[in-house]
Amino acid sequence: EQSRQIAQTLAEFQLTKAQLLEVKERMRAEIQRGLSKETHELASVKMLPTFVRRTPDGTENGDFLALDLGGTNFRVLLVKIRSGKRRSVEMHNKIYAIPLEVMQGTGEEVNDGGSVPQCWYDGIMPSHCVRPPLSGILIKWTKGFKATDCEGEDVVGLLREGIKRREEFDLDVVAVVNDTVGTMMTCAYEEPTCEIGLIAGTGSNACYMEEMRNIETIEGNEGRMCVNMEWGAFGDNGCLDDIRTKYDEAVDELSFNAGKQKYEKMCSGMYLGEIVRNILIDLTKRGFLFRGQISETLKTRGIFETKFLSQIESDRLALLQVRSILQHLGLDSTCDDSIIVKEVCGTVSLRAAQLCGAGMAAVVEKIRENRGLDRLEITVGVDGTLYKLHPHFSRIMHQTVKELAPKCDVNFLLSEDGSGKGAALITAVGCRLRQQEQ
Ligand code: BG6
Ligand code: GLC
Repeated sequence: EQSRQIAQTLAEFQLTKAQLLEVKERMRAEIQRGLSKETHELASVKMLPTFVRRTPDGTENGDFLALDLGGTNFRVLLVKIRSGKRRSVEMHNKIYAIPLEVMQGTGEEVNDGGSVPQCWYDGIMPSHCVRPPLSGILIKWTKGFKATDCEGEDVVGLLREGIKRREEFDLDVVAVVNDTVGTMMTCAYEEPTCEIGLIAGTGSNACYMEEMRNIETIEGNEGRMCVNMEWGAFGDNGCLDDIRTKYDEAVDELSFNAGKQKYEKMCSGMYLGEIVRNILIDLTKRGFLFRGQISETLKTRGIFETKFLSQIESDRLALLQVRSILQHLGLDSTCDDSIIVKEVCGTVSLRAAQLCGAGMAAVVEKIRENRGLDRLEITVGVDGTLYKLHPHFSRIMHQTVKELAPKCDVNFLLSEDGSGKGAALITAVGCRLRQQEQ
């Protein structure tokens, strides 16, 4: 009876192929709404034009400084790009974990970056690259960033002020790039068929090269432009409510941004552990786990980080080791408990990978139709801790894309630290194009 009830609880997370196809169709509809002039404001998927028109072709050159504010880390990079025979991208980087007090403090604290050492500011921006004033309005913080007073502000202006305040160096900000776009550009440097970027990490998002004629929110019909989908917000208009469970609702309600980023909350690293925790609390309350005792640990938000879920779900791990991970987290488990915990984790991450795959299937199908092709061959540049660390996520996601978009051959190319390199490449492509125009 107990195992039947547990199975029933987990069954709410199991999606049929028909349901996944439905998710793909809804994503497709939201993409359309986001691109169209009339419905853009109402779309949950924002489809932001990035003004990136070309991927790199290997003739780029220059030294660039890049700051990469990711989900887990803040990276400061010096990127040296060389063309011709010595064609290469060389990077020197420093990685800092993002302290919680900075993440949730004020904009000034994020901007000052605390202890970023001076030597990293020595990067050179070739002067001819400097464009007329660039601005970057921060629409919404996601992924646990709360820095008050930043939303709606021009972060480029704030960054410039921060740099000026230190009075130590002269530096201009010439590009602000979303991590999906940076990832796509980095992979495109190695692989010209890469026209999609995907992040499956703390957050979840994608970008791709859309036809200009379809992007009704900006002028022009020629060529293509990269669109940052901000697909994490898919479902914010209620279009995924029928597949969300009461555990998803609980996770949303306890989050900083309730009602927002509903798709992201079902498929990104920051929230998977929280869904697991909410299920475990419920199963414990019902007396199926941990001898019915809800410990303080289990009440603590954020205990199941992606790395723990990844370890628990690793096939090579014996149950005894699962128990020791739980022990390490402060959860005293029996052998039966550890079996159930592993099953819960597996169920939640399976759904996450399938949902992410359904979203990607919608994107590749859209590109195939844009180009009027019977078959599309395309590469997706990917980054993010969930994709890289989880033992099954990537495989299931690939499999789902294959099943839901059978007319597309989709390759996935892993990118390491893609954003910083990508931001430098975008600037370099911009410089190249400008020089060609002159
Ligand atoms: C990094 C990129 O490698 O991956 C970041 O350079 C990106 O820009 C990050 O945000 C995503 O992974 P996570 O798991 O840190 O959110
Ligand atoms: C969040 C952010 C988005 C980013 C993604 C992946 O969804 O809103 O901009 O690309 O996380 O890091």
